[in-house]
Amino acid sequence: MTEKCLIVYYSKTGNTKKIAEAVAEKLGGDLCEVNEQGTAQASDKNPSSYDLVVVGTPVNGFRASLPIQGYLTQNRDKLPDVAFYVTYSLWPAGTLGGMEKLAGKKPIASETFKAKDIIQGRVDEKVNGFVDALRAGLSRYWSKMVLNPYSPSQSINGPY
Ligand SMILES: Cc1cc2nc3c(=O)[nH]c(=O)nc-3n(C[C@H](O)[C@H](O)[C@H](O)COP(=O)(O)O)c2cc1C
Repeated sequence: MTEKCLIVYYSKTGNTKKIAEAVAEKLGGDLCEVNEQGTAQASDKNPSSYDLVVVGTPVNGFRASLPIQGYLTQNRDKLPDVAFYVTYSLWPAGTLGGMEKLAGKKPIASETFKAKDIIQGRVDEKVNGFVDALRAGLSRYWSKMVLNPYSPSQSINGPY
């Protein structure tokens, strides 16, 4: 049984990218960078062909970056289960809640990472905790599919 995970991110100065790469390395999965227009760089990475899409963004003005707002809006109907993380310098405010609204569903896990900690290499433990939560979410997905493969909703959380 393979669990397919897509890690979608936008990163202007590299912090969000670093976390995306660490999650991809620890969890396994495909990386997909979103450009300034909110379009996925690799158009073959269709979110609906994955079990889980992890979306990462820098906090920009107390919200998700515009490219990630665009990505979530454009792909809202194609998203399977989702997880979110943000990187920030001072305060992530309601960014995670805003992403949940744009995606139209609750994340199976979410996390925040401080820019200073990323730059100073002090996020390994937090990344491990986030990856553990993602693994737990993926295994709940598979238990549900094995128990009820004909479930009309494949999402753990159901519609928003
Ligand atoms: C235009 C702009 C707006 C930002 N707004 C916020 C903010 O509202 N709250 C915050 O804590 N950090 C804010 N930041 C800091 C970034 O979220 C933080 O440096 C982030 O880790 C950058 O990610 P990146 O390296 O992947 O681009 C802002 C940065 C920029 C450039």
